Amino acid sequence: MENKKVGVIGVGNVGATLAFNLATKNICNEIVLKDLREDYLQAMAIDISQAANAANSSTNVSGDKEDFVNCDVIVITAGIPRKPGMSRDDLLLTNAKIMTSVIEEAVLTNKDAIFIIVSNPLDAMVYTALKASGLPKNRILGMAGILDSSRMAHFISKKLGTGQGKVKTAVMGGHGDDMVPLVNYCTVDGKKLTELLSKEDIEEIVTLTRNGGAQIVKLLGNGSAYYAPGYSSSLMVEAILNDTKETYPCAVLLEGEYGYKDIVAGVPVKLGKNGVEEIIELELNENQKEEFSKSITSVKELVNTLDQKFFV
Ligand code: NAI
Ligand code: 2OP
Repeated sequence: MENKKVGVIGVGNVGATLAFNLATKNICNEIVLKDLREDYLQAMAIDISQAANAANSSTNVSGDKEDFVNCDVIVITAGIPRKPGMSRDDLLLTNAKIMTSVIEEAVLTNKDAIFIIVSNPLDAMVYTALKASGLPKNRILGMAGILDSSRMAHFISKKLGTGQGKVKTAVMGGHGDDMVPLVNYCTVDGKKLTELLSKEDIEEIVTLTRNGGAQIVKLLGNGSAYYAPGYSSSLMVEAILNDTKETYPCAVLLEGEYGYKDIVAGVPVKLGKNGVEEIIELELNENQKEEFSKSITSVKELVNTLDQKFFV
């Protein structure tokens, strides 16, 4: 294996789960972790390294600052969740501050890295990372579409009582309440979803998918989902490291695709060693175009707040 190195900034629930997946899959030579919480960071580095050893993986895991150089891919999960009394804008501006500081520092010692953003609000954080780093749009992308699609697949197989592992789904748009599950692109074992379930059942699945993150937040009481987000992020890392050209829904800067400019949203993207290799333009029906436009408007509101209150 040629030397492949992955950095993870923020090794809380999602970052640690991602690092565990990568380390035990043996798909890179090195993983270097970074976090504000020094003892916790070292605990994660040791624990995940030991998991790699249990898996007979040759991936080396470190939490040393001096190792955070020359990464091929860096995943950023650093950020804080919304706390009581905090407005949406407060969270947006706090996480924008964190995103700016971590990416500005990371680019100094990782000149060729591709950045995968996970921190929320996702699309606005991808926009922040692009603006703060000045990197080209192919090198910064966000993880959400794989997660949202996996949630939709989960709800479909639960509703059908079968099909687990054979459900193909597609979710576009921003990672928020207005995301756009593309029902007509969904199949189960090659059969169209629209031929397997009633309109009402499909509508219920769309609603469950849109609420998928909130459902877990409510059940956990003190955090958000991390297994599916961590695993979904690992798929993006793998596609980039191995230059697979696989297509996944990812949050990227649109520059004319789907008729939008200067805005970040989830769309199907071909991933490879250059990060975003190609944006795929799916055909959308009138209803889907309307839903996508609504989702873009929601992202725009956050981006406008950033432009007015943060990037001044
Ligand atoms: P967490 O609170 O468990 O972990 C966040 C970590 O970031 C903590 O370890 C914290 O110490 C670290 N951190 C904060 N500021 C930092 C800085 N300046 N430098 C380095 N590390 C710093 O949170 P969790 O559950 O891991 O979620 C992380 C982020 O990912 C959140 O913003 C969450 O909303 C988002 N998320 C996004 C998903 C998506 O689909 N895009 C899915 C799941 C979570
Ligand atoms: C999720 O969808 C919180 O964005 C996170 O689980």
